[in-house]
Amino acid sequence: SGGSSRARGVPALPSVPVLGSLPGRCCGAAPSPALHTDLQKVGSIPKPLTLFIFIMFLGPHFTLVVNSYDLAKEVLLTRGRDFAGRPKMVLPVMQYTLRTADPRGKDIAFCDYSALWKSHRRLVHSALSLFGEGGRAVHVEKVYLCNDFKPVCLSSAFDPSAAVTRAVTNVVCTLVFSATYRRDDAELKEVIDYNNGIVETIARGGLVDLFPWLQRFPSRSLTKLKQCITVRDRLLQRKLDQHKASLSDGDGGIDPRDLLEALLRGQEGQKSEVISDDHVLMTAAETFGAGVETTSTTLLWIIAYMLHHPEVQARAQRELEEQVGLERPVRLSDRTRLPYVEAVIQEGLRIRPVSPVLIPHTALTRTSLGGHPVQPGTRVLVNMWALHHNPTDWPQPDLFKPERFLDGRGGRVSPSCFLPFGAGPRVCVGESLARLELFLFLSSLLQRISFSLPPAGPVPDLRGRLGVVLQPPPYLVVATPRHT
Ligand code: HEM
Repeated sequence: SGGSSRARGVPALPSVPVLGSLPGRCCGAAPSPALHTDLQKVGSIPKPLTLFIFIMFLGPHFTLVVNSYDLAKEVLLTRGRDFAGRPKMVLPVMQYTLRTADPRGKDIAFCDYSALWKSHRRLVHSALSLFGEGGRAVHVEKVYLCNDFKPVCLSSAFDPSAAVTRAVTNVVCTLVFSATYRRDDAELKEVIDYNNGIVETIARGGLVDLFPWLQRFPSRSLTKLKQCITVRDRLLQRKLDQHKASLSDGDGGIDPRDLLEALLRGQEGQKSEVISDDHVLMTAAETFGAGVETTSTTLLWIIAYMLHHPEVQARAQRELEEQVGLERPVRLSDRTRLPYVEAVIQEGLRIRPVSPVLIPHTALTRTSLGGHPVQPGTRVLVNMWALHHNPTDWPQPDLFKPERFLDGRGGRVSPSCFLPFGAGPRVCVGESLARLELFLFLSSLLQRISFSLPPAGPVPDLRGRLGVVLQPPPYLVVATPRHT
C-alpha cells in the first residue's frame, strides 16, 4: 500500500478509501470527541500488535501515530528539525488568509519551518518572556480574576467558565495591547465573542480540514468564521495604528509595554521589512487563539478535579496560609515556596492535557522514526495523552495525585515523559506565560475562595471532549469567600 512505502515496516490500521482508518470517529460531522483515547487503545492491543507506532489514514491523509515516550522524543527532540513541519490545515490557516492573500510564514503555529519563521518565533518568544519573571508580571497580577468571581460568589451555584475565560482574555489583552477592561466593558465582550466564535467554528470544522474541497460549498460555519475574523481584524488594526502613533510620538519606555510594541520595535531593527504588519497582527491574533482557550480550560480542569478531591484543595490552601498568609496578594516570587500548588497545576496538565495529540507535525525531509524510514510530507500525531497515562511511568494514571510531582521531602519532580507543552523546535511559545498565569490565578483564587459542589449537585464529568482543545463538559460550582 501507499502507507508501507512511506514508512516501511510500520503496522497499519485498516482503512476505507477516502474516509480513512476511523471513519466513524474521525470523519463524522465533527472531529472525534475522543480521538486521543481511541489512538491510545489501538496502541495497547496485546502482542503481536503492540502499537507504539502505527499508520492510519485521517481522512485521506497518511498519518503516523506515536504512542510512546521514546518515539515522541525522537519526533520532538532528537529529530525535531526533521519533523518540524506542519500540514496545511484549511481552517486555522483560513483565519489568516482572510487578512492577507499570502499568509504563509506569517503566523507561528501553522506555518512550516523556515528561516523567517524561526526569526519571527524567536522575536515572539523573547517578547513573551518580558512578561515572565521580570517586572512585567505585575501586569498580570493586577488583572483580577478574584474580583471577577466576587459578584458570582454571592449567588449560589454557577458555571465558572465565563468568569475564567473573561479573566484569561483580560490578561491576554493587557499583554498584547495594554488594555485592562472592567468585567462589563463592551470591547472586552467583543473580544470574548469573536474569540469564542473562531474557536467554535474551528472545532466544528474538522471535515473541511480533512477534505479541503468542502470549503467551496456555502456553510454557516465559514460565514461565521469570516464575520468573527472581520471584527477581530478591525480591532487589532485599530490597536496597531494607536501603537504606531504613540511610538512615533516617542512615547515608548526602555522596555516595550506590550507585545504589539515589542513586535513593532523588532520590525525597526530590520534592514528590509521581514516582519511585516501582517506578521504583527497575526501574532497578536494567534496569542488570543493559542493562549485563551488553553489556559482557561486547564484552570477549569483543575477546579473540576478539586471538586472531586476536596482534600487536594484543602492541602493547597494550607500551604498558602503557611507560606503567604491570607492578607497579601500572592506574587510570582512565591512560586518556589508553594510546591504543592505547583504540583496541583502539573497534575492538572498531566491528567487532562488540553492539547492531547499536540498540533500535527510533518516530516520536512526523508528521515526515520523508530528505525523505520519516513518520507517527506508524512504527518505525525504525537499522542501526549498516551504518554501521560502510561501506567509504567504513572502508577494508577487515572487518579488525580499531585504528590506525583513531589519527592516526599518537599522538593519537586518533573519526569521527562511529562510534556504538556510539547518539546523541541515546536515547543509551545507561550509556556512560561501560561505557567505564570496558571500559578497566579490558581493561588490567588485558593487564597480567597473555597470551591465546593452545589448541595446534591452532580460532580463534574471528567471524561472530556476533544474540540479545538480537550474540554470538560460545563459544570456547576459554589464559590465561598474564605475571609471578608
Ligand atoms: C503550541 C500547549 C498556552 C502559544 C503548543 C503545543 C502545545 C501547547 C502542546 C503544540 C506543540 C507541538 O505541536 O509540538 C499549551 C498549553 C497551554 C498553552 C497546555 C496552557 C495551559 C499558550 C499561550 C500561548 C501559546 C498562553 C501564547 C501566548 C502557542 C503557539 C504554539 C503553541 C504560538 C505554536 C508553536 C509552534 O508551532 O512553533 N502549545 N499552550 N500557548 N502554543 Fe501553546
